[in-house]
Amino acid sequence: MKSDKVYIFDTTLRDGEQVPGCKLNTREKVEIALALEELGVDIIEAGFPISSPGDFESVSEISKVIRHTVVCGLTRAVQKDIEAAAAALRFAKRPRIHTGIGTSDSHIRAKFNSNREDILQRAVQAVTWARNFTDNVEFYAEDAGRTDNDYLARVVEAVIKAGATTVNIPDTTGYCLPEQYGEKIAFLMNHVPNIDKAVISCHCHNDLGLATANSIAGAKNGARQIECTINGLGERAGNTSLEEVVMVIRQHPELQLHTDIRTGQLNPISRLVSDTMRMPVQPNKAIVGANAFSHSSGIHQDGFLKDSQTYEIMRPEEVGADISRIVLTARSGRSALAYRFRNLGHEFNRNDVDVLYEKFLKVADMKKEVKDEDLQEMAGAYIAAAITS
Ligand code: KIV
Ligand code: ZN
Repeated sequence: MKSDKVYIFDTTLRDGEQVPGCKLNTREKVEIALALEELGVDIIEAGFPISSPGDFESVSEISKVIRHTVVCGLTRAVQKDIEAAAAALRFAKRPRIHTGIGTSDSHIRAKFNSNREDILQRAVQAVTWARNFTDNVEFYAEDAGRTDNDYLARVVEAVIKAGATTVNIPDTTGYCLPEQYGEKIAFLMNHVPNIDKAVISCHCHNDLGLATANSIAGAKNGARQIECTINGLGERAGNTSLEEVVMVIRQHPELQLHTDIRTGQLNPISRLVSDTMRMPVQPNKAIVGANAFSHSSGIHQDGFLKDSQTYEIMRPEEVGADISRIVLTARSGRSALAYRFRNLGHEFNRNDVDVLYEKFLKVADMKKEVKDEDLQEMAGAYIAAAITS
């Protein structure tokens, strides 16, 4: 079956690092960049070089060590930003400049006190400046999610004509519904005459919890790059989570899409980013949360122990997670209890389990989770009582 590649553009070190408290030093950024290259991402957005000397240095150091992956620097549509990005990227084997400007009426009026025609000219000018340094130029139409589609199509056509090879359609405020975002991409695919000269990119924020759904809607409608971050880190409610879009694409072959991500590294890199940025991952986070492969209710545990596919749509090893956990709580059933005893070396028959289960429920009602040490104590007491009776 024909399958199109979706390029994975990781912005953990740029949009992700904008999160308060997540500031990284150059050494930490280089370590994460190397792990991202190992993971198989296609583009690493390493920073915003004009923003600070530290960010400039990080982009420059990352450029020196990354061997195959494209290294990208962000700029505004401002000449000195573009020059700074080009300077920071001078050691990169495959540099990309990511430049752009706000295109929604709200941005045009409130941020720039300007008008649509002027913004269109500035967009073209920025791409032209960037093309003086590299032929790998990405343009972003900030707040594209709330930009009028006809105007957006004019901007996209003009920047492609000026030499942009990737055009990013950010839902900067995380406002769009998946249908709306998908329709926006479809509109561009159908109304921009030179659209075949560039890759269209999704960059979705998660303010309404729709970033992953929106990115997938974009890809279903022709976008072939997704911008995302490890653990979904990013401004406010975050960006599209890399692990989620990659696994959605992998789990749904009917999409006829693929990525080059080595999925077995998803959990290790999630831990690396969480530890380095000191940002804990919520336990119920898809793919990389501590509970993503834990089963605690009796009905689920019984089904899972008969056949893991009843309650798991992917195997933990596919995403580099620890083996699935059967967690014992007051909602657990007999088969889970017997299974956990068996793991501790206690092979009890059905009657034994019935008796032990009553004792287990009393303990479980007093605790959030019944642990191995509680089970050992229960088994020890039960065996001792059986010997003396
Ligand atoms: O969310 C956004 O619009 C951005 C751009 C700067 C690409 O992060
Ligand atoms: Zn963003």
